[in-house]
Amino acid sequence: MNTDRLSATLRSALNSQMTKEAHASQIFLSFGAWADSEGYAGISNFLFRHAQEERNHMMKILEYILERGAKVKIEQIPAVPANPTNVQDCFEKVFEQEVDNTKAIYKLVKMSFDEEDWATWHFMQWFVKEQTEEETLALNLLDKIKIAGGKNASGDALYKLDRDLEKTPDDAELAETKTAVNP
Ligand code: FEO
Repeated sequence: MNTDRLSATLRSALNSQMTKEAHASQIFLSFGAWADSEGYAGISNFLFRHAQEERNHMMKILEYILERGAKVKIEQIPAVPANPTNVQDCFEKVFEQEVDNTKAIYKLVKMSFDEEDWATWHFMQWFVKEQTEEETLALNLLDKIKIAGGKNASGDALYKLDRDLEKTPDDAELAETKTAVNP
């Protein structure tokens, strides 16, 4: 009796996404280590926390595949890219990473829609919201570095930015929670 509730195509795509989340985690871990060695303990702390979030995303997908009666295959994680050259470059790479991941998530949403696999479609909606949050968070980082002076940010501005990021929450507030009174 076949108890697998995922198609072979979706199982394989979900499995790849699991590896992609693990890869994202490694990238943020690597950037976090770079930031710390450059003296930015706050940025490093932010990136380490983010690495953990990506690891949680990986686990969610792993659990989902198992829950649907399908098999998980742990795959090799690709190597991390080169270290950023400065804080602005770091934040740009974080943003690009998130956008790339959003594209992969959207593909999975479309695949589950086309297959009429509503359980997977529903499961993926959590990731759609999460990616909106993470892109917002990454855009906020780019705004902060722009205000600090971009590539020419002074040591003082970078010091304040670094201190600020130590306390930055892991989640960004999304438009759907806003009101006219509380924009
Ligand atoms: Fe799990 Fe930032 O994607």
